[in-house]
Amino acid sequence: MIRKAIIPAAGFGTRMLPAAKAVPKELLPILDRPSIQYVVEEAVAAGIDDVLLITSRDKKAVEDHFDRSLELEQRLKNSGKEALLASINSLIERVKVHSVRQPEQRGLGDAVYQAKRHVGDEPFLCLLGDTIFSAGKPPALQLAEAFNRLGTCVIGLEEVAPEKVDRYGIVGGTAVGDGVFKLDTLIEKPAKESAPSRLAIAARYVLTPAIFSCLEQTSPGRGGEIQLTDALRLLLSREPIHGVVLDARRHDIGNPLDWLKTNLLFASRDPALRAALAPMVEELFKSP
Ligand code: UTP
Repeated sequence: MIRKAIIPAAGFGTRMLPAAKAVPKELLPILDRPSIQYVVEEAVAAGIDDVLLITSRDKKAVEDHFDRSLELEQRLKNSGKEALLASINSLIERVKVHSVRQPEQRGLGDAVYQAKRHVGDEPFLCLLGDTIFSAGKPPALQLAEAFNRLGTCVIGLEEVAPEKVDRYGIVGGTAVGDGVFKLDTLIEKPAKESAPSRLAIAARYVLTPAIFSCLEQTSPGRGGEIQLTDALRLLLSREPIHGVVLDARRHDIGNPLDWLKTNLLFASRDPALRAALAPMVEELFKSP
């Protein structure tokens, strides 16, 4: 059984600058809540009751979001508006949120390594803080169920267009079930011509603690960063890894266009907001 999840959220978020200069990108809202709240909600939906946020010196506000604010709560209570904090407060009651700081932004692999002591000797979920999902079963739950069946590391996958393979970690492997692959290779941002498939690593993983010794032996790779994909390739030489094509829709909130699109999409799924928004959007795009 998987009890713990880690959420790397220490990156600089350069694609979201200047918005993400003082406010971490993970706190920028998708409708009524910061995107990182959706990520923690997804972990809880997979049965997790212990989450470790991997943040940085400049991202204290991410930790604060998962702390009670008694003064604010009292004020809202006095004016009968407690419902405004209901979603975050009920989440805080269901999960213990810890945090650790990545001292230097040396890459996703290095961020995951910061969780070594907290995770100990258990398999754990890893959810990237700048990606959320909608529709379908929560991906963390899909992967936790796959782990219970397969007993190996499991990586969430998404099929991407051939011209996009150079933006992702790409895996190769053999199909062993419907949407389930036994992996034989992983490569970070390959050229289109050398990509082993169009199956991209989609921001969600179940990892075994063996990943930590692999991370210790992984030198900086692409972009001078310690790449989780490189450590996973080393792990693959030691133990089997499966990939599961996720049955859900992925939203990258780490760039302005996709962040805006995700907001519009989520609004369009709420009947009241959709009714208000649709004429506004139509009007907007009619004018020159
Ligand atoms: P990205 O590659 O998107 O990097 O990280 P970034 O810094 O967040 O954003 P850009 O590219 O500069 O716009 C993928 C995930 O890995 C985490 C990020 O927070 C994000 O969830 N990460 C990355 C870390 O936690 N630490 C790092 O050193 C790098």
